Amino acid sequence: ISKRNGINMNNLNFLNIYDNENQDERKDVLKGLNNKKQKKINSKYFYDDKGSKLFDKITRLNEYYPTKTEISILETQKKIINEYLPSAASIIEFGSGSNKKIKKFLNALKNPIEYLPIDISEKFLFENAKDFAKIFPKIKVTAICADFHQVDQLREIVSKKKKKIGFFPGSTIGNFMPEKARKLLENFSYILGNNNYLVIGVDLRKNKKIMENAYNDSEGVTAKFNINVLERLNIEHDAFFNLKEFEHNDFFNKKENRIEMHLVSKIRQSVDIHNRKIDFQKGETIHTENSYKYSKEEFSLLSEEAGFKVKKVLTDDKNFFGVFFLKVKVKKEEIK
Ligand code: TRP
Repeated sequence: ISKRNGINMNNLNFLNIYDNENQDERKDVLKGLNNKKQKKINSKYFYDDKGSKLFDKITRLNEYYPTKTEISILETQKKIINEYLPSAASIIEFGSGSNKKIKKFLNALKNPIEYLPIDISEKFLFENAKDFAKIFPKIKVTAICADFHQVDQLREIVSKKKKKIGFFPGSTIGNFMPEKARKLLENFSYILGNNNYLVIGVDLRKNKKIMENAYNDSEGVTAKFNINVLERLNIEHDAFFNLKEFEHNDFFNKKENRIEMHLVSKIRQSVDIHNRKIDFQKGETIHTENSYKYSKEEFSLLSEEAGFKVKKVLTDDKNFFGVFFLKVKVKKEEIK
């Protein structure tokens, strides 16, 4: 494995193995917008600089309960975390989000020895890792710029660590279709290896209004976040969306058990992108995000199908959010 940007400072080490050469964004965006059944934009395009800042603001809104609830679970149930998870482990975070959660999590563990955040955004990853290395000088930090799909490379890197705990908070798993979510869990179990752990945050199904309000706040921050994806296409993709002619909408799709976010065209219009025209009927939408909501039982089943055994589920008083402790249990005949 090449160590391209080999920056070393005390307890901080940086590894860049990200391989994005065959990602054709232009083709991807056009394909989504030309989908006859339902126009789509991949939610990964939300997270440019402005989008990431708006998202951070979302996590602090009154209506947006998941972040607060998950943090309070990590904070108030330290004893159980300490009891159920191994000591002297290496912690691998898939997608290094806000440092706030990992700090709470590490504070609950016995003698964690290494922290390995993995993220595709080099800048964000490095800033977070640096901040972390300063606060926890005794923990070795190895930041890895990579995509979770680089499973063989990641497995090779972490195979040298003895005891491993994967960490995947924020109910990011809910942003994948269930079939894709199961695949992703399988990848995590493969990367971590038999008998290691995955600690994963999952938003639980609840009253429809509470869920819908979390994705349509009264200050309109989520609306701005959603609209920002069009601005990004205007800037980076040679598009001419008139931001005033689209509005944010969200609803709970009961059949699919998911919150859907859409951008609704307020009028009949035609928009130029990459010198092509995309036609919109009045009221026609672009589907921009899904957030699946599971029951404890449903998520447990999904985890078991992906090769895990559920060891413990932490929740809050209202059962709004679940933090699942999963252990990789590969059947003997499947061990390579
Ligand atoms: N995974 C979180 C959730 O579904 C965070 C998130 C992802 C989100 N995309 C979003 C929150 C769009 C608001 C809007 O809740």
